[in-house]
Amino acid sequence: MSRTVVLVVVAALLSETWGVPLSSGSSPRAANHFPDGFYLGAATAAYQVEGGWNEGGKGESIWDHTLHAQPNLTADGQNGDVAADSYHKYKEDVQLLVGLNANVYRFSLSWPRILPTGDTDNINQAGIDYYNSLINELLANGIQPMVTLYHWDLPQELQKLGGWPNAVIADYFVEYARIAFENFGDRVKLWLTFNEPDMFSNGYSSATALAPGADSPGVADYLLAKAVLLAHARVYRLYDQRFRPTQRGRVGITLNIDWYEPLTSSADDAEASDRQLQFECGLWAHPIFSREGDFPEVVKLRVAANSRKEGRTRSRLPTLSPAEVNLIRGTADFFGINHYSSSLVTSGSSGSEPSKTYDSGVVTSMFEGYPTSFWISDIPWGLRKLLNWLHKSYPGYPFFITENGWSDPPGVLNDTARIHYYRGYLSALLRSINDDGVPVIGYTAWSLLDNLEWMNGYTIKFGLYSVDYDDPERPRTAKASVPVMAQIYKERAVPLEDFENADTTPPS
Ligand code: NOJ
Repeated sequence: MSRTVVLVVVAALLSETWGVPLSSGSSPRAANHFPDGFYLGAATAAYQVEGGWNEGGKGESIWDHTLHAQPNLTADGQNGDVAADSYHKYKEDVQLLVGLNANVYRFSLSWPRILPTGDTDNINQAGIDYYNSLINELLANGIQPMVTLYHWDLPQELQKLGGWPNAVIADYFVEYARIAFENFGDRVKLWLTFNEPDMFSNGYSSATALAPGADSPGVADYLLAKAVLLAHARVYRLYDQRFRPTQRGRVGITLNIDWYEPLTSSADDAEASDRQLQFECGLWAHPIFSREGDFPEVVKLRVAANSRKEGRTRSRLPTLSPAEVNLIRGTADFFGINHYSSSLVTSGSSGSEPSKTYDSGVVTSMFEGYPTSFWISDIPWGLRKLLNWLHKSYPGYPFFITENGWSDPPGVLNDTARIHYYRGYLSALLRSINDDGVPVIGYTAWSLLDNLEWMNGYTIKFGLYSVDYDDPERPRTAKASVPVMAQIYKERAVPLEDFENADTTPPS
């Protein structure tokens, strides 16, 4: 075969498999292709992968403290003392990312590794050196670092002050962020202030859900909401004023948002769906991303009404003053989304009284007829519906999918369910971008490697790479999903056949 014939055959094959337009240049991008400059990578968080819990001068976090004091809180009695040992194996982790053809890695800084007491009395150079080494290793391999400042590991010393429900913690967070921008901002251009405030607020509304296990449902979680929003806004404004002119990066926040489909076509269920979205997402997103700012009206009204019924003279949801509304509104360059699943929702009463769940007045249930693992259902069209809802609710902001992934029980290397999940969700993401016009700039799969799944310990596996936790060396092994993702990331497209077969259109 002549060289020309070979090239034509290869081009035709590529075109068939990947939908690559045969003539490049000005031809429009095929619907199964990611836009130019799109970020594709994977994510982790410090406590879940690093280990080295007391090495190199690191201070104690609320997770170290809680799981040392109460090992029975995790399903397997394990903790993050060693975890995946990424503190020592970070160079290997970077090679795992290279193996995925990733161009971005989302990881978090451990606040007590940098500031062991949470305050600036001790700035731990060994901690700063560790993150400098990781960042430099990523950049040397052509991978952009995306840094989460807070992925749930508050310094224990600050928990002694009450932790996040105490608004004073914001003052400490601003100082910590300043030190991070000063030390890493010359090379880090993608920042997230907080990961999933709605989820980590459970650490203050339940004794067992997450550290620190402060059991104050419907009170501490709302106090935390105000403190975290103010902390986020102040850090954004600090970056904007002091660092952006020279560092030219982008700062966002990541919210956990599932999709909630009304159980029936009734108006009541449609309202329940909206209420659930407002309590899970709007509580955080409305103050930052809406045109008018402040907490959503429906959340304010319902918490105030329940508080009155309980005989309180004030709402359990704190108010934001006009100055605070202005301080918070518009403080993001992009909107980070952690999305995993979709559920059905109807009106009704659930949760203890008082609690945020009780205030929301909804009952959720899992879909039937979709692949399911633990709390996750594989429903790609849910992501598409969510992205369209978000774009309509908060126009003008680009989105970044900072987490999305599938969990398996231990021991699954031939992870066909994860492959099915990723093909479907990446296709739904592409439909949202290319067919629906939702501006999305990146995607990081959860997770690069198996890690400590909080109170589930090591019993639930989200990794693309498996880690052998029985072996002190913590060897990593690629699961079957790795070559599939590596190919998608390399071609920057979902193969046409998978794309066309994916469940990206909601049933009518
Ligand atoms: C979201 C959290 O950010 C992450 O830490 C967790 O492991 C995943 N969800 C999976 O539950």
